[in-house]
Amino acid sequence: MSSIKIGNTSWHYLEKGTGQPVVLVHGFPLDHRIWLNQLEGLSDRFRVIAVDLKGFGQSQSAEAFSIDSMADDLAEFLSQINATPCVVAGLSMGGYVAFSLAVRHPELLKGLIIVCSKAEGDARAAKEARQTMADLATTGGAKPVADQMLPRMFCQKTYDARPELAVRLREIMESCPPATIANACFAMRDRINRTPDLPGLEMPVMIVLGQEDVLIPQALGLKMARSCQRGKLAMIPNAGHMAPMEEPAAVNQAIADWVARLD
Ligand code: MLT
Repeated sequence: MSSIKIGNTSWHYLEKGTGQPVVLVHGFPLDHRIWLNQLEGLSDRFRVIAVDLKGFGQSQSAEAFSIDSMADDLAEFLSQINATPCVVAGLSMGGYVAFSLAVRHPELLKGLIIVCSKAEGDARAAKEARQTMADLATTGGAKPVADQMLPRMFCQKTYDARPELAVRLREIMESCPPATIANACFAMRDRINRTPDLPGLEMPVMIVLGQEDVLIPQALGLKMARSCQRGKLAMIPNAGHMAPMEEPAAVNQAIADWVARLD
């Protein structure tokens, strides 16, 4: 892995291929390893970069952050590695960061891909659940957090046919430092609702959804895509919240076709 210093943190990332930069931003409480199939499958056409956000994976930091501060750090990261203008694909929490980046630093983006994520902020009950999860991580570590999250990450077909994916995702979740889990819970709780910003985004936007994602309803994906000036929806069958791990070929195809058509 390569690394560069952004603020007080060494940001680690894996990079493969040449050409149009495509930057992959993981969800919570995950790291760049969820994108290994995209690094392999897209790097024959693009310069693919999978980053560990501050505090996650190998980018160790116990500093608190907000989704907007993470987006500003990501902007600095992209500039430092000469990866602009780029296509950014953010999964779930990575999608929150990607939306913030698109609003705060639109000049850095050629296109925005939102994977299994949403523009809305947390409703009241979700905000309360963030504190509970942060407390769980602080007192019990990452394992009880993984226990709570894992049943909702994949579609049933994946759990049945490819149980090794759940084992792998558990490993990634359990390696996340508890302080990062707590920091991320507060950052997600306090994030800005980006729904009103969607019509103002001038870059092309693709919303990629797992057709069986229990966390992101299809209707919401369609609404987001329609709210963007240049929005498109790509629905991935036989996939839940971790569509890039569950159906890598379909996700890679959707990304490759869409990026190839960007002007
Ligand atoms: C994620 O997958 O990143 C999380 O489910 C996002 C969230 O908890 O809002």
